[in-house]
Amino acid sequence: MAPQDQTRKAAAKNTGTGDTSEAGSRHIAARLLAWYDAHHRDLPWRVTPGAFARGTRPAPYRIWLSEVMLQQTTVEAVKAYFRTFVEKWPTVEALAAAPTEDVMKAWAGLGYYSRARNLKACADLLARRGGRFPDTEAGLKELPGIGVYTAAAIAAIAFDRPAAVVDGNVERVISRLYSIETPLSEAKPEIRALVEKLVPQERPGDFAQAMMDLGATICTPRRPRCMLCPVCEDCSAVLLGNPERFPVRLPKNDKPLRRGAAFVAEREDGAILLRKRPDKGLLGGMTEVPTTAWTARIDGATTQDAAPFAADWRRAGRIGHVFTHFALELEVFHAHIEDDVPEGHFWSLAHEISGEALPTVMKKVIEAAIPGATKKLRPH
Ligand code: ADE
Repeated sequence: MAPQDQTRKAAAKNTGTGDTSEAGSRHIAARLLAWYDAHHRDLPWRVTPGAFARGTRPAPYRIWLSEVMLQQTTVEAVKAYFRTFVEKWPTVEALAAAPTEDVMKAWAGLGYYSRARNLKACADLLARRGGRFPDTEAGLKELPGIGVYTAAAIAAIAFDRPAAVVDGNVERVISRLYSIETPLSEAKPEIRALVEKLVPQERPGDFAQAMMDLGATICTPRRPRCMLCPVCEDCSAVLLGNPERFPVRLPKNDKPLRRGAAFVAEREDGAILLRKRPDKGLLGGMTEVPTTAWTARIDGATTQDAAPFAADWRRAGRIGHVFTHFALELEVFHAHIEDDVPEGHFWSLAHEISGEALPTVMKKVIEAAIPGATKKLRPH
């Protein structure tokens, strides 16, 4: 027997924790649902617990939109974007009818911009099919931008299907509940199998959201609040005395660092020179100031040569930004230039800059050169 199985078995034997039996799973699910009824977070895309039993159901459009926004983004960051989107585009047909550029602009700042392009592609496809969302995991997974996790989340929350919804929060809860000693990167199939066992036939959508809320508010990465946890007595990691030790992780490599230079060219009236990134790839279709490639080593001596066109470039500072697979440092240069527009570039007027599809890294660049430039609004 593998050491982790021995530990889990010993824990289970001593106290009845780490119990993977059907009765144990039913007991844990029931406790989580009761806790969710009393302590769920009120979120703008949510309906109150038990909606399906009362004959009401959430709009699949709102659940889909929120789940796409919540991919790799925190609940707090998503709330305001979600409200803006449903106000501007209350239905999937309305979103399909919107120009892509408007959708990209409304998404600016939320990051991972391929999500916005897929969102639009998905809305277009569904609108052509009459605006109905598929109501199964398999059907949802066929759509642009919907992977295993998002398909399960939408199937569970919008359609009350007993899908196993496994994100980082849920992995942490399960790793602790069953004190999984296998490093997380290898334990995923085991964790999924345990979630599948736990998902109840009654209220699976509420169960999925209960697990998310437990992970986000009680079973947190650091200092979990086990005293308030509805399944504390069932938790094998609590029994072992150190829940924070789970999930077990392999030591991780630091992200590689890339460097480059960015050039903020300003016209006399405060307009800034911008260009659109290619549609494919990192930050695809978003707007940026001219930059060098993000691999180059840049120092003061190469500055004038590195710029895409000649100007009196002055060093304005350095910004850092962390992407999923690398960290980036950009040396920022600022110059005042004449009206001529280099090919492929355009001027954005001072009051229009805040409405451009600028990713956060580009907002940092522009702010380093011209403080306040990304926040100016149209004069009344
Ligand atoms: N994270 C991903 N989906 C979520 C949801 N529906 N509620 C809260 N957090 C989430």
